[in-house]
Formats: sequence, C-alpha cells, structure tokens
Amino acid sequence: SEEKPLEGKKVLVTAGPTVESIDPVRYISNHSSGKMGYSIATVAKRLGADVTLITGPTCIEYPFFMDEIVSIKSAEEMYKAVLSKKDNYDILIMCAAVADYKPKVSAQQKIKKSAETLTIELEKNPDILETIGHSKKENQIVVGFAAETENIIENGYEKLVRKNADVIVANDARTAMGNDRNHVYIIFKNNSIVELEGTKEEIAKELLIKLCKVLQES
Ligand code: C5P
Repeated sequence: SEEKPLEGKKVLVTAGPTVESIDPVRYISNHSSGKMGYSIATVAKRLGADVTLITGPTCIEYPFFMDEIVSIKSAEEMYKAVLSKKDNYDILIMCAAVADYKPKVSAQQKIKKSAETLTIELEKNPDILETIGHSKKENQIVVGFAAETENIIENGYEKLVRKNADVIVANDARTAMGNDRNHVYIIFKNNSIVELEGTKEEIAKELLIKLCKVLQES
C-alpha cells in the first residue's frame, strides 16, 4: 500500500560495532553508535516490513517493535548469525561497523603489564557483506555501507563491485559516526548516485523507499 510499501517483505539489518576480545578485560572495536542501523530497522518496521536486527554492543536503546533482535559481540558471531538467516530475507542491509581484524589469540587470562611495548597479532575477520553479496539469491537485495575518509564515492563504488552489493551507502566516517545526522551518497549498480543530507531517520526512509523501487524492478 501507499503507507506500507514494505508490507510482506522481510528485512535483515546489521548495526553497531563488533568487539574483538584481546583478553578478558580488553578489546578492539570501531567507533559506531548503532544509530544509523537502528534508524533503518525502525523505519523499515514503520513501512510495514518484518524486521530482524542483528546488533553489536551499543549504548543506545534497542529499537521498538522489532520482530527479532539478535545480540552479538564479535564479527565471527555476527557472521554466523547473518549466514544462518540470510536466505529468508528480501532485503539485507549490512550497516554494522564490523572490525576488519581480530586478535589472533584471545588470551584466557589478563595480559600483565610488563614490557614497554606490546605487540598483538591480528588476523582478518570474515567479510559478511562480501559473503552474502556473492551468494545472494535472485530477487534478494544486498545493501552495504562504506565509511570512508577520502574519495568517498569512488571507494564506495569499488566496494559495490568487489562485494557484489546492489547498493552501497557511502558516507564520511568523520561526520557519520556517533552523529544524529548524516550526509550520504546512495550508489546503485548502474552507477547512479543520490546524495542525501538529514537525520539518520530521514536518510533511512529515503533509502528504504529507493530499495522498494529496486525490489519492484528486480
Ligand atoms: O570494506 P569495508 O569494511 O569498508 O566495507 C564496509 C561494508 O562491509 C559495511 O556494509 C560493513 O557492514 C561490511 N563489512 C562486513 N564484514 C566485514 C567488514 C565489513 O560485512 N568483515
């Protein structure tokens, strides 16, 4: 219908940071408030979708009225959660700021402070967006985010191609993270670009309306 264009559609959203444990008291992570992803989940629900949110740890309240919320900590856990669910969704929006690397070993005991320098070896985390992009079913729409500090559109389009996403939302990491507002470029496969500036809820709504159109055309 007019007001509920996502009625009958299933939307999966990832949000927030992931946290990669170094030892029982320390971790590495990303600056991510979860606001963009939670706004998308909230607005998708308002537009009539059945919404599942997979979220890393955030300091903000969970969005209301979700059909399902899965709370995870590490990228590995987010990866497993997304892969186990992905086939059941029409739209998958990977908004989480996933840690690219994790400590190769997570120490069982707290690492003692002794030497003047400490080296932690990191290894790559699985890329969730790239995995689902390359295994998506016909009619499934996969959306990624790209937080960049330079060449925002070029890097966003490169990501769209490499990860086989249908849409990439590219933004400036320096202003996007933590803020209530955002300034984004929505990049489509045909290289058409829509620039948006507004609150994260406003951007979420515009994005989801655009995705409805992509669904109709697919
Ligand atoms: O390559 P980069 O991390 O900049 O790409 C960002 C996009 O890829 C986001 O949509 C993010 O959720 C996703 N991503 C992912 N798994 C990773 C790293 C990023 O799904 N390990």
